[in-house]
Amino acid sequence: MFLVTGATGGLGRRIVRILRSREEPARAFVRLTSRYSELEQRGAEIFIGDLRRERDIQKACQGVKYIISAHGSNEASGGADVLDYRANIDLIDFAREAEVEHFVFMSVLGADRGYEDAPVFKAKREVEKYLEKSGLNYTILRPSGFASNLLPLAERLRETGIYLSLGDLQNRSSAVSTDDLATIAVDSVRVEAARNKIFPVGGPEILTREDIPQIFGRVFNKQPFIISPPLFLFDGVRNALGWANPELQKSLGTLRVLLANEFFCTPEEIETLETCFDIKMESLDNFVRRYLGS
Ligand SMILES: NC(=O)c1ccc[n+]([C@@H]2O[C@H](COP(=O)([O-])OP(=O)(O)OC[C@H]3O[C@@H](n4cnc5c(N)ncnc54)[C@H](OP(=O)(O)O)[C@@H]3O)[C@@H](O)[C@H]2O)c1
Repeated sequence: MFLVTGATGGLGRRIVRILRSREEPARAFVRLTSRYSELEQRGAEIFIGDLRRERDIQKACQGVKYIISAHGSNEASGGADVLDYRANIDLIDFAREAEVEHFVFMSVLGADRGYEDAPVFKAKREVEKYLEKSGLNYTILRPSGFASNLLPLAERLRETGIYLSLGDLQNRSSAVSTDDLATIAVDSVRVEAARNKIFPVGGPEILTREDIPQIFGRVFNKQPFIISPPLFLFDGVRNALGWANPELQKSLGTLRVLLANEFFCTPEEIETLETCFDIKMESLDNFVRRYLGS
């Protein structure tokens, strides 16, 4: 039995789909308020709980062989301290208690760069260290930004021709196909070379922010009009929000780090990934055509 946390999220949903298409038993950890009917229809076992509650995590781990931790935080559902850190520490502890065979942890590219002002990055790094010392078999995946997160921007460009991108247009990234990442997460428990390893996971090309609307423009045959507000505008808004809500200001630190820095995998890292998991990483162009092409 696989336990998947964040099973209703962009990544978690895809992980459950793959597991069920392979007829693997999957327990989807979901909240009562989540949209989980699709997972149920695919034959996943639905476990209703809240990752802020230790007892729910303990119960969910019972009888489980593999865990894929794919949940994420937002201010409404519990911030980085509660969800990215505490819930994962609890998952690791109860995984040990339940003698789980393999734990796959979804970290983030750059978790090891020591960004002090980014609560999610800090939490992910602390969890990575805890997992490495836990005695469990593990695989840590450090993905770059998900291609699926770009789909709404691509759709807007298709409708209006406008593309909004905050910060330096020359910043580089390597958006990863969310489907490839889900496949890698599932395969991590069986691929011998993935045991007790950390993998940066990205798409096959290094793209500047300016390249992205050009790709969308080619897919939709539309000339993109790029609006690129400078980062100091974001900082101004963030500081103003800080007067009313210091917690929100703190949590926006993660977004600030994402906007101000580069997150891409080197060709060598992609080659290692492709060899290890026997996969050909999908380009952003292909991903967008698959989801939005005519
Ligand atoms: N998105 C990216 O570009 C990116 C890049 C690098 C790494 N990552 C990491 O990859 C993972 C998956 O990201 P994603 O974009 O797929 O996440 P997502 O779409 O934001 O989904 C978050 C998931 O966590 C669940 N969740 C939140 N609070 C919960 C709670 N209190 N109890 C139970 N479940 C809760 C949500 O459930 P509800 O449906 O109930 O809200 C949802 O299923 C995260 O760990 C994220 O940090 C993401």
